[in-house]
Amino acid sequence: MNPKAYLDNNKQTRLDELFEFLRFPSISARSEHKEDINACAEWLSTHLNKIGVKSRLMPTGGHPVVYGEILNPAAGITVLYYGHYDVQPVEPLNLWKSTPFNPIVENGYIIARGATDDKGQLWTHVKAMEAYMATGTAIPVNIKILFEGEEESGSENLEKFVKDNKDLLKADIIVVSDSAQFGQDRPAVTFGLRGIAFVEAKLIGPDRDVHSGSFGGSIANPVNMLCRIIASFHNKDGRVAIKGFYDKVRKLSKFEKKQFARLPHKDKEYLKKVGSPTLYGEKGFTTLERIWSRPTLDINGITGGYQGEGGKTIIPSWASCKITMRLVPDQDPQDICKKLAKHIRKNCPKSVKCEVTIHGGAPAVVVPTDGPWLKAAGEAIKAGFGIEPLFTKEGGSIPVVGTFKSVLGADTLLLGWGQNDDNAHSPNERFAIKDFERGCYSALALIEELAKVRA
Ligand code: BES
Ligand code: ZN
Repeated sequence: MNPKAYLDNNKQTRLDELFEFLRFPSISARSEHKEDINACAEWLSTHLNKIGVKSRLMPTGGHPVVYGEILNPAAGITVLYYGHYDVQPVEPLNLWKSTPFNPIVENGYIIARGATDDKGQLWTHVKAMEAYMATGTAIPVNIKILFEGEEESGSENLEKFVKDNKDLLKADIIVVSDSAQFGQDRPAVTFGLRGIAFVEAKLIGPDRDVHSGSFGGSIANPVNMLCRIIASFHNKDGRVAIKGFYDKVRKLSKFEKKQFARLPHKDKEYLKKVGSPTLYGEKGFTTLERIWSRPTLDINGITGGYQGEGGKTIIPSWASCKITMRLVPDQDPQDICKKLAKHIRKNCPKSVKCEVTIHGGAPAVVVPTDGPWLKAAGEAIKAGFGIEPLFTKEGGSIPVVGTFKSVLGADTLLLGWGQNDDNAHSPNERFAIKDFERGCYSALALIEELAKVRA
């Protein structure tokens, strides 16, 4: 049997296995899930060993890395596959039509947390490797695998891990399936990702919640003050009003502008996918320019005071918010964090105490849009989807991709099989079985196409 026939014959098995994988509540952000994360990593590594990949868990400062390799002395090149087995938190639970870690199939979609981001997508590559191993077909490339457990919480320990294991991870090209197609039946090669920077701010007023009748009007309310500060983050044109925020921002190139304008994007359809009343963003840019090539600042969550049933008349003791900024070339995450921290401190009135925590981040990345690796990726996508891929960028971030370039010196192929409206990070995350399947066949073809690059 050849590897493709193996894929043809094992459709249900690879789905059943993926379901098993999806059942681990591997939420990296939550310490109470530490054991689930470990169990998931163990399971994944065991599975890799079972299909013939030599795999082991490797410790990091946080959740473990699942490392694996299939080394073939006769092969000319080495491909490093990256993916993440951790997932985002699942709240709000009441909006899920099923239980997040009990996958179901509905109308051709797998519904579960991690279905597309990223368990389902990394699974396509694992199953492509298995197709070779199970049919006794020699794999024409050296394969290395790095599946991490902290991507959804910022890959805080991965840069050090990559630096410490530079020789082990050395590769000619990196393959990542953790992005999306451009739309239905619009497979894409992504040539850029935005970076990210995280900051938290907390304002503290009275040393406990106090009666808003007895004290309101005589002291500052931290929630009111935080809202003022948040309001100062943008101007009326939707631009970020932090001093120096745009200093290093690389202007859109002619190539990008042209490339974006060529894509089959319709604002109306886009708006329907996201479900907002209207579009909104920085003045002077199109939607695709705004999400792919312009930096942003967003409050991800804001907390403070009483939010329970009924009323409670208090001046809250504190208020806090979590802030992320999406970065573009050549903004530096640390520099941007510092600029924001300075802005917050400067705009914080003396009437409250201010604590700013900088969590750092990762820079934006741009990968080549031509050359033999890209050509190989295009051929593989054509083989799996029967469709020529588009060239797109993405507004999301995969922190380690920049590290792969700076530490390993290798470029990354970003080949996403999912869709941007597959509800990643939202309730009812899903992955169309059709996309999963086409991803598997593309992943299989990719191995052969990459081997040709040096042959
Ligand atoms: N799969 C996403 C990255 C992504 C999102 C690519 C959208 C293309 C489009 C990844 O799992 C992710 O969500 N990354 C985080 C990183 C952050 C926590 C540092 C993100 O972008 O929010
Ligand atoms: Zn994600």
